[in-house]
Amino acid sequence: MKMYQFLKTRHHKEFMRDIQSQFVKNILTDVCTNPKESGAAFAPSNIALCKYWGKRNPSLNLPVNSSLSISLGSLGTRTEIRLHDTPATWADRVYLNGQLQPPESSFVQRVTSFLNLFCPMLGNVHFEVRTENNIPTAAGLASSASGFAALVIALDDLAGWGLDKKQLSMLARLGSGSASRSVYDGFVQWNAGSNSDGMDSFAEPVFKPWQEFCIGILELSDARKPVSSRDGMNRTVETSELYKSWPQQAAADLKTIRAAIESQDFPLLGKTAEHNALSMHATMMAAWPPLLYLQPETIEQIHKVQRVRSKGLEVYLTIDAGPNIKLLFLEEDEASVASTFPGLKTIKPFGSC
Ligand code: DP6
Repeated sequence: MKMYQFLKTRHHKEFMRDIQSQFVKNILTDVCTNPKESGAAFAPSNIALCKYWGKRNPSLNLPVNSSLSISLGSLGTRTEIRLHDTPATWADRVYLNGQLQPPESSFVQRVTSFLNLFCPMLGNVHFEVRTENNIPTAAGLASSASGFAALVIALDDLAGWGLDKKQLSMLARLGSGSASRSVYDGFVQWNAGSNSDGMDSFAEPVFKPWQEFCIGILELSDARKPVSSRDGMNRTVETSELYKSWPQQAAADLKTIRAAIESQDFPLLGKTAEHNALSMHATMMAAWPPLLYLQPETIEQIHKVQRVRSKGLEVYLTIDAGPNIKLLFLEEDEASVASTFPGLKTIKPFGSC
């Protein structure tokens, strides 16, 4: 059995649960629980400019490489959480955009198994979670990033723990790696860390706002992706020969992107982010079975970006594990980019959306 298949077995899930419970306990040692009736929080979605792709430890969600993202301002997830002191037969109740979700859905299972990690500190309780995404669900923006970040911050509010951002980032990471970055606004770096206990793997803000920085969401397909990011990255790590060069490239790209942010060198940032994203896709395509998230429309738009750039329009792209494209450009080119790419939704992470 391949490792990426083993990760889905019951045996591995139980093993993972123990390790995660211990991690949560370590973070909450010396923290007093002082629960109130409900807790609430908002967390922004984020888009990686230097991608996180591959785990060195799937149980603790520890990445192979450090990554860097930009948070999307007021686009993200708002979550409210309440305690239910109810009979053990009652399950957690999870609402998504006002709709009660079936307990057997993978969404509820993922939320519940995450919340169960915190039950030892809160007693024999059940939760009611109401979560609202204001990100278009079809836009290919990772709602698990803002979702788990908002859930952890709301839980901290409910339990009265008063955790700092570093601790919140590490707990959000357990839910979804990219969620570790969504506890901050602006540019954010998630340090991979090297410790096996995961205590040095958390995100930090890169304190450099860039008012003119724009992101354009090009929605090309709302088809559900056949393989999740999680499964895709595990398969890539294990079967892709090209993956071997990824950690080194990601480290170099991160350094370049940080320097580009520091000096506000947009072409350098754009070019490095685009190269990073396409290199990640190359590692996926070289996996077996191959992972091809790009659709014909995606390829068409990649060519178009290259074409208009060669004619002088300073626009770059990034793509996650899906078919949709995110364009990177500066405010001065907003009108030209919008007219070149009809239907584009522009986000200004440092200004008003
Ligand atoms: C391509 O954070 O969704 O968007 O940690 O398994 O939940 P898990 O994966 P996830 O992967 C995101 C991958 C990516 C790149 C990125 O956001 O850095």
